[in-house]
Amino acid sequence: MSTVSEELVWSALGRVIEPDFKKDLVTLKMIENLKIDGGNLSFTIVLTTPACPLKDEMKNACLASLASVPGITNTEISFTARTTGGSFTGKTPIPGVKNVIAVSSGKGGVGKSTTSVNLAIALSQMGAKVGIMDADVYGPNIPMMLGITDTPRQVDKKLFPPSGHGITVMSMAFMVPPGTPLIWRGPMLHGIIQQFCQDIAWGDLDYLVVDMPPGTGDAQLSLAQLVPLSGAIIVTTPQEVALSDSRRGLAMFQKVNVPILGIVENMSSFVCPHCHEETDIFSKGGGEKAAHELHVPFLGRIPIDLSIREGGDSGHPIAVAYPESPLTQSYRDIAGKLASAISISNAGAIPIQIGNFGG
Ligand SMILES: Nc1ncnc2c1ncn2[C@@H]1O[C@H](COP(=O)(O)OP(=O)(O)OP(=O)(O)O)[C@@H](O)[C@H]1O
Ligand SMILES: [Mg+2]
Repeated sequence: MSTVSEELVWSALGRVIEPDFKKDLVTLKMIENLKIDGGNLSFTIVLTTPACPLKDEMKNACLASLASVPGITNTEISFTARTTGGSFTGKTPIPGVKNVIAVSSGKGGVGKSTTSVNLAIALSQMGAKVGIMDADVYGPNIPMMLGITDTPRQVDKKLFPPSGHGITVMSMAFMVPPGTPLIWRGPMLHGIIQQFCQDIAWGDLDYLVVDMPPGTGDAQLSLAQLVPLSGAIIVTTPQEVALSDSRRGLAMFQKVNVPILGIVENMSSFVCPHCHEETDIFSKGGGEKAAHELHVPFLGRIPIDLSIREGGDSGHPIAVAYPESPLTQSYRDIAGKLASAISISNAGAIPIQIGNFGG
């Protein structure tokens, strides 16, 4: 039995282009453990994020290219990931944490926390290790949304944060007794956030999502300065005013040299559960328009849905309660695009553009 030519295999794989980085898999050193045993070929594709949305497409592109190599009877392709880390704009990194992503909004109540929680779960469902830093000084509600009733454990000088649905969480809610007047929370913010960054045993995390307080004022700016962010996303509702809100968010992060990884449009439209008619309660498309005008990626839209609100209130976010629902799939699509945008940003390729394999 003739053996498959290793040289031909490498050259076939060298013709497969990774869509985000626009280079071939061999040049990018993404192929490892290549083994040929008679007609059997196996290798591993090393991704820059476990939440890569393009695994199937990449696998198919490899198989298509390998079809030109004579003698292969069986090909086994496995995936692994070595998540790349952010540059943290010159600040001290958070020990063990590779990427820190702020979720922000120009105004309150647009669904930042809901988006943070469901994106964190979606990333974790795709294989990433994820935590949330609940930095909302005004209304820290991430523990409630994830059904967490435990509080952090102190061992020596380190605080070990609790987790819910696989997501490690540190929250202002654990540090500031309920009912503490807002006027006191502001000055406490600095010390608490420093503690969140350096004295918390986060463990090894691919992504730490920071749920920011709403708005773009001084408190938000100093947070964006204090936390070693590798990027930010802006959540907006779809009205026309979305653009001015998003512009303020963009300006704030530009001031502190944090790249905007994209815009998410939340509460996009409402589908009546009875007659299935779609109503654009807050209009539609403002987020996409804002992304276009501000030259940042549009990551996707999430409709208004009762199960999203109920999931947040009950401690069982929709991504956990209904993992197969199209809404959860929307969160996973956004999470995949976000993970790609982070990988591209980490590779220093600016402007950030979301690739579309084979498209
Ligand atoms: N897509 C959605 N469909 C239905 N309800 C939603 C959706 N997104 C958010 N909500 C609900 O809207 C309310 C506000 O959402 P959330 O708390 O996530 O917003 P926020 O931007 O974090 O608010 P704040 O500025 O107060 O921190 C919550 O009751 C939440 O359950
Ligand atoms: Mg919130």
